[in-house]
Amino acid sequence: MAEQTARPIRPAQGKLGVLCVGLGAVATTFIAGVENVRRGGATPIGSLTQMGTIRLGKRTESRAPLIRDFVPLAALSDLVFGAWDPLPDDAYTAARHAGVLDRHEHLAPIADFLKAITPMPAVFDQNYVKRLEGKNVKTGKTKRELAEALRKDIRDFKAKHRCDRLVMVWCASTEIFLSPGPAHRTLEAFEKAMDANDPTIAPSMLYAYAAIQEGVPFANGAPNLTCDFPAMEGLARDKGVAIGGKDFKTGQTMIKTVLAPMFKARMLGVAGWYSTNILGNRDGEVLDDPESFKTKEESKLGVLEYILQPQLYPELYGKIFHKVRINYYPPRGDNKEGWDNIDIFGWLGYPMQIKVDFLCRDSILAAPLVLDLALFFDLAQRAGMSGIQEWLSFYFKSPQTAPGLYPEHDLFIQQTKLKNTLRYVMGEEQITHLGIEYYQEA
Ligand SMILES: NC(=O)c1ccc[n+]([C@@H]2O[C@H](COP(=O)([O-])OP(=O)(O)OC[C@H]3O[C@@H](n4cnc5c(N)ncnc54)[C@H](O)[C@@H]3O)[C@@H](O)[C@H]2O)c1
Repeated sequence: MAEQTARPIRPAQGKLGVLCVGLGAVATTFIAGVENVRRGGATPIGSLTQMGTIRLGKRTESRAPLIRDFVPLAALSDLVFGAWDPLPDDAYTAARHAGVLDRHEHLAPIADFLKAITPMPAVFDQNYVKRLEGKNVKTGKTKRELAEALRKDIRDFKAKHRCDRLVMVWCASTEIFLSPGPAHRTLEAFEKAMDANDPTIAPSMLYAYAAIQEGVPFANGAPNLTCDFPAMEGLARDKGVAIGGKDFKTGQTMIKTVLAPMFKARMLGVAGWYSTNILGNRDGEVLDDPESFKTKEESKLGVLEYILQPQLYPELYGKIFHKVRINYYPPRGDNKEGWDNIDIFGWLGYPMQIKVDFLCRDSILAAPLVLDLALFFDLAQRAGMSGIQEWLSFYFKSPQTAPGLYPEHDLFIQQTKLKNTLRYVMGEEQITHLGIEYYQEA
């Protein structure tokens, strides 16, 4: 029985334009993957919106519809794709360069479709991504002018492709580390800083600003500051736009946010956690620059502190040594190898070790997240949920939260939060897992 009323949700009618900032490995694997699925030749494995179910009501009710049948999501057939990139390659050429998907099986059959997706000139500045050079770049006297040019791109794309709605996902490179400063406090300060070409305004912030001003939800797949500061949060709330980030949680950090809660649940201590990676794609090359790596490092390091709560359990986690390395190693391309050595201790302090060796494919893990985020951010927007979408922290390494609120990193708390939000939106009862009613006398 529904306990509450469903939120009014605008129907998912018409086309949904998905604007990817960056047309690299992740974006092309996502776009080509959706097209392969649409043509019936592939399965969207890894996508909760396409394959996941949701339990409703009591365990005895046997109600577990597919999520996409339960909430009104845009259909894959209604998605159209656009992108910006400083590299001029179309989606086919970029996907070939990325080397993720099989050329014969997944790219050649859709070559015409991919070749038709050409990147719009980007707002790009090498000062923020040192290891990249690109000529497909907008020019403008001020950062405000560049943001306005992005707004025009958004409007033009919407009109040209006759979209009903748009959503923007940052799939571009990781920028150098920036901390929030005076320019990020208020909208007025931010706009003045754009006019003054303030160096603390990075290109990613201009995309987020343009999206929010145009009423387009914005999801940040990289660890950049982008829209994680008061000026942008306030703007998103005022404009009624859904925003969120940061940094797709795909490989090593996903594993970390599953293992660490287990140690804490069983009150096992952790002395050290050494994580290292080898990665040979362009992302790996960009992250080889210490300033971009620092942005990533902060995002990857945060999770243990929040999950293990050393302030509550000083004996178990007070002295943990946590190290994260990413090493650029071209022979592996997109096929990352991530090693974790975890030194734990148990009863009376006896030490033990766990080793994880994850031979993963970075963009294969990330692509379904881009799809889910595009569909869920569009849902949030239609359901009138504006500002930070913390319920989508399931997808992020470094979830954006309301000021003063610490993020939940445990993957299964995040999953519960996500599914309970869907139940809430649709007016269904929350699932608390109390279950006492199954054992009470009638
Ligand atoms: N598993 C994963 O793959 C994973 C997980 C978490 C985060 N990420 C992040 O996702 C992003 C994309 O990863 P990728 O493997 O596709 O990298 P990639 O290098 O293949 O693609 C990034 C693209 O962004 C473009 N770009 C850079 N600055 C831009 C700008 N200002 N405007 C428009 N385009 C710009 C680059 O030219 C490049 O084509 C990276 O920031 C990465 O750290 C990836």
